[in-house]
Amino acid sequence: MSNMNNMKNMRNVIILISGGGSNMAAIVRAAQTEHWAERLGARVAAVISNRPDAPGLEFARAQGIATRVADHTLYPDRAAFDDALVQSIAPFDSQPPALVLLAGFMRILTEGFVQRYSGRLLNIHPSLLPAFAGLHTHQRALDAGCKQAGATVHRVTPDLDQGPILAQAAVPILPGDTAQTLAARVLSQEHLIYPRAVAQWLRDHRDGHDSQ
Ligand code: GAR
Repeated sequence: MSNMNNMKNMRNVIILISGGGSNMAAIVRAAQTEHWAERLGARVAAVISNRPDAPGLEFARAQGIATRVADHTLYPDRAAFDDALVQSIAPFDSQPPALVLLAGFMRILTEGFVQRYSGRLLNIHPSLLPAFAGLHTHQRALDAGCKQAGATVHRVTPDLDQGPILAQAAVPILPGDTAQTLAARVLSQEHLIYPRAVAQWLRDHRDGHDSQ
């Protein structure tokens, strides 16, 4: 654990989830085993879910990480929900500005939200972008007769799933694959590339300057 002096300048990583949170868990574990606090001056400070029952919240709590819920069903529109999300993030978004990660976060964010965290908002998407932006990526890859599938870590811009690519991993599509078997194969790669891409981002932005 870092001493209090280091904690003052610690960069917060805030992870937004909607469900299982296995990517979030992979990032939390990488932060622990690779000593991000000491080496990168960063720690996972909060996990925020738009679903109160997201299983990933349990994991985060068990790790002693702060959790918050911004339940999208309680807000009349996207803008009101995004405002609530900003309020949930705000206490953890001090100086230096936090890195905000979407990890299986299944809400489309407003342009205002994306602009607010511009340059420090990353996402993982379960396809080899630019192919198959949006939903049902694995079934669409199977239907298209692709021989490979994969995952992409990218910076979030207002265009859905179209921001600059930071990392990708490809996996083979095998005879007999279903969307489920393919999803599992892709997910195991997501757990490798997302923590790696986040660590690289933290190294690249060590002095707080934005080298996007
Ligand atoms: C992951 O496969 C992630 O890439 C995908 O949801 C899954 C979440 O799993 N995200 C999207 O489809 C975003 N459009 P997890 O909750 O276990 O990390």
